[in-house]
Amino acid sequence: MRYAASRLEPVKPSASAWVSQAAKAAKAGGEDIIDLGLGEPDFDTPPHIIEAAHRAALAGETRYPPTNGTLALRNAVADKLARENALAYSADEIIVSNGAKQVLFNAMMATLEDGDEVLLCAPYFGQYKDIVLILGGTPVTIACPADNGFRLTPEALEAAITPRTRWLMLNLPSNPAGAVYRDADLHALGAVLAKHDHVLVLSDEIYEHILFDNAQFRSFAATCPDLKDRVLTVNGVSKAYAMTGWRIGYGAGPQALIAAMTKVQSQICSGACSVAQAAAVAALNGPQDEVRRFSAAFEARRNLVVDRIAGMDGLTLDPPGGAFYAYIGCEAFIGATTPDGSEIENDADFTAFILKAAGIAAVPGSAYELSPFFRISTAASEDVLNTAMDRLAAAISTLKPGKSST
Ligand SMILES: Cc1ncc(COP(=O)(O)O)c(C=O)c1O
Repeated sequence: MRYAASRLEPVKPSASAWVSQAAKAAKAGGEDIIDLGLGEPDFDTPPHIIEAAHRAALAGETRYPPTNGTLALRNAVADKLARENALAYSADEIIVSNGAKQVLFNAMMATLEDGDEVLLCAPYFGQYKDIVLILGGTPVTIACPADNGFRLTPEALEAAITPRTRWLMLNLPSNPAGAVYRDADLHALGAVLAKHDHVLVLSDEIYEHILFDNAQFRSFAATCPDLKDRVLTVNGVSKAYAMTGWRIGYGAGPQALIAAMTKVQSQICSGACSVAQAAAVAALNGPQDEVRRFSAAFEARRNLVVDRIAGMDGLTLDPPGGAFYAYIGCEAFIGATTPDGSEIENDADFTAFILKAAGIAAVPGSAYELSPFFRISTAASEDVLNTAMDRLAAAISTLKPGKSST
C-alpha cells in the first residue's frame, strides 16, 4: 500500500527537528548531549501572559474563534504594527494563524499555481522550500554568501526573477545566519522589485526583536512603502515573547490576499486557539521589558560564541546581527580525517562528527542550502554554551587536516 502522495516525495523532514530527535534518542541512551539543534528561546513565557490566558478560559473564551483571529488580537496586531513598525493596517488586512509557519503555508497555498517560482535567499529557514514543494511550486535558491553578510544583492535578485516568479521570501533578521539588512540594502532590493510588478514579497520578521549592536529594526513594507500592496508581513509571538508552544503567528497584507488565506485556513483548522490568542493580546499590549531582557541575553550569548569561535583555528563566524543562531563556517575541516579514520566529506559529516565526539547536536548547512557551515542555536545558558565551546574545541583538535587545508 502506498500511503504518501507523490507531491510529498521531494519534501525532507525538518533537519533541525531530525537533529533534535537524534539528540533526544542519544540522551535517552545515557549519552551526555548538548542539544543546540532546535531554535526556541529557553526562557519561560512571562507570567502576565499566562494569567491572561487563564482569565480568558475562565471567562468562557473557549468556543471557536473567528477564522481570521479574534478582533481583539487583530486590533492588537494593528496597534503593534503602527507603534513599532510605522505600518498602517486595519483589522481586515490581518490574519492570525497557528504560528508564523501556518501564515507561510496559508500564503503559499492561497497563491501558488503549479510551477510558480519562489525565490529563497540561501541560507534560509528550510520550511520555506518544503512548503513550496508541497504546494507544487518551484523553489529557486539564490546563494547569499558570507562575504556579503549573507544578504541578497540587487544584482542576484534581478538575475533570478523570471516571468514565473511569484514570491520573494525575505527573512529580517535571518535564520540561520543572523543576516541584517540596512535601509540602503532594502531600498536597492525595492528598486529591482519595482520593475517587476508580478512579484510578491513575503517579509518574515519573526526575529525582529532579537537584533543586536543597537540596530534599529525596519520592516520591509515600511522601508519600501511603494511596494506595500505586494508585501505580506509575517510575524508572531513565538520568538519575542518565549511563546513557541502557544502557536500564534500573524500576517498583514492586502485585504484580498488576507481573504484568500482566510479561506485556506477555514478549511485547515477554523482558526487559532482562542485562549492562546488572548495570551498573545496580553503579550502585544502589555509591558515589553521581558522582550528587551531576552534580547540582551541573546546578545551576550552571541558575543560569547563569537569570541570562543574566534579562538578556534579552522572555524569562521562573523558576528550575526540578530536572531539566536550562529552559522559557523567549517570549510577547513572538509577533507579532514577523524580519529576513527573516516573522512569528513561535507558539513553533514562534520555535524555527525561533533555529535559523536563532542556530544553537540547542531544542524548542517546543507539543510539551509549553503555549505559548508553548521548552525548552532545560541538559545541556551552561557554555562551550557561555554561547555559546548570547550567540547567543540577539544573535538576539532583531534581532526587530522585534509587536502584542502594543506
Ligand atoms: C524564519 C522563521 N520563520 C518562521 C518560524 C516559525 O515560527 P512560529 O513558531 O511562529 O511558527 C521560524 C521558526 O523557527 C523561523 O525560524
